[in-house]
Amino acid sequence: MALKMRYLELNRKVRDVRMLAIQGIAEAGSGHPGASFSAAEIMGALYFHKMKHRSSDPLWEGRDFFINSKAHSAPGFYAVLATAGYIDTKEVKTLRKLGSRLQGHPVRYSERQKNHSFPGIEYSGGSEGIGLSVAIGIALAKKRDGKKNRVYTLIGDGESNEGQIWEAAMAASKFKLDNLVAILDRNKIQQDGFTEEIMPLDPVRDKWTAFNWNVVEVNGHKIEQIIDALSRIEKVEDKPSIIIAKTTKGKGIKHMANSPQWHGKAPPKKHVPILLEELQSEILIAPSIIAGEPENYEEKVRRAERAGADLIHLDIMDGKFVPSTSFFADTIKHLRKISSIPFDAHLMIEKPIRHVEEYIDAGCDILTVHVEACNEAEFAEINKMLLKAGISPGIAINPGTQFPSWLIGHLNNIDVMIIMSVNPGFAGQKFIPDTLDKMAEIVKTLRSNNYKGFIEADGGIDATTLQQVFDAGARIMVAGNAVYGSPDINSNIIQLRHKANVAIETKLLELATINDMRSDWIKSRKNMLIPLAKELGIEEDLHAIK
Ligand code: DX5
Ligand code: ZN
Repeated sequence: MALKMRYLELNRKVRDVRMLAIQGIAEAGSGHPGASFSAAEIMGALYFHKMKHRSSDPLWEGRDFFINSKAHSAPGFYAVLATAGYIDTKEVKTLRKLGSRLQGHPVRYSERQKNHSFPGIEYSGGSEGIGLSVAIGIALAKKRDGKKNRVYTLIGDGESNEGQIWEAAMAASKFKLDNLVAILDRNKIQQDGFTEEIMPLDPVRDKWTAFNWNVVEVNGHKIEQIIDALSRIEKVEDKPSIIIAKTTKGKGIKHMANSPQWHGKAPPKKHVPILLEELQSEILIAPSIIAGEPENYEEKVRRAERAGADLIHLDIMDGKFVPSTSFFADTIKHLRKISSIPFDAHLMIEKPIRHVEEYIDAGCDILTVHVEACNEAEFAEINKMLLKAGISPGIAINPGTQFPSWLIGHLNNIDVMIIMSVNPGFAGQKFIPDTLDKMAEIVKTLRSNNYKGFIEADGGIDATTLQQVFDAGARIMVAGNAVYGSPDINSNIIQLRHKANVAIETKLLELATINDMRSDWIKSRKNMLIPLAKELGIEEDLHAIK
């Protein structure tokens, strides 16, 4: 099912949420990074895509309601509301300050509370276990009034120790509240440890099913899976629904990930520039499917998805723009039925403007045309069609093509730029080293023009070239031969991820060294750096820290 979610923009907004939240927490010297990060995609999917709401009219009658029962995720929640336009993003830095509207736990907005809250906050959280009951009250009232508003509530798995949650669960199914959706941030950690050690919740799916709820399980960091589930749930009748979102507490900052100690602790302020760099350095792996045996395409998608790929890069070739011919929209339409993984379509065809509709209809999430195959007017038209359809627009540039200045005027509407590192038309070609300087040059131009989108590297990307294009600015790595060139796709992707990890850690170390906090940084990140010590050349540093 095509989700029409402008995937890359959503992805970028969720990244911005993490960046805002960590700045607020560091500035306050306290707060909850763990929960803010584990629930970032969940809250992003709701506010940036699914929920009907208006930041210009927070109390609009027709709005959907979000009850954040997992209130300690406040820094992330405020960052989502700021990114959605309810407050200025700068205000997130006043988190927990005396007189700030952004208190440690959100306060429901009212005229009386206007100094401690802001319009858009529907619920005062703090002591947990209560939000689901409030959500049920709103859902029941709206249902009885014949209103179409939907009610969403975020609950925690530690919070699920509370008996009130289960009383509420019974009530919701009694009243057949099919306008109510609970989302469980299943990160398996609560304040003082791991949930399954403190109060085992599993089999959590069976529990909610037994309480007569419609239950869906997703990877809580794959925004496409959350959105897919939210769309399917809308068709469920006479039953409330719960999405069990498998998440990682602290996801986004490696030394905070899956660690109870980062439940309610702030990082040192001096680390913020490095943490922000880490959040902007997330690498997306996109295995490329190009010409070959059509009967294998499905298997290639499934295996890449199982191996943890972030996107599937689909190379469409017409035999005119490039010598080869591959597959077209009908094949993509078929593949769309078997997976919700985002499809990154690379159109190496002449006159793409004549074919864009077909690829929109086929269910692509990202659609890139070549700058050599369209003029500015055609590109503007294509761009408009894609944005209207909720698809992330992209532009690709061949090795021999100079960056056309007319693109500058369209940067706000371009979510990805492919800087080709081979001449298009075949997989398995040798990486052209000269394209590195060109990529770095283009990245400089883009940054100086406030480009917010992604840079994608395509052609000859493997374990030997990935770090170079990462350093030049690429964050989406297309890999054909490096993934499908040998049978063990799983370990091929794991190896690319490993190289991506080394590239990121090298960059963060450089930054820590430049800012004169190398040993302090290595100390704060020791556990996850030890396995990389040799590749990062930090054995002595680690030894000195002991
Ligand atoms: C080439 C395509 C690439 C290619 C990548 O025209 O755009 O996506 O399939 O394959 P490798 O990684 O093998 O160069
Ligand atoms: Zn490609």
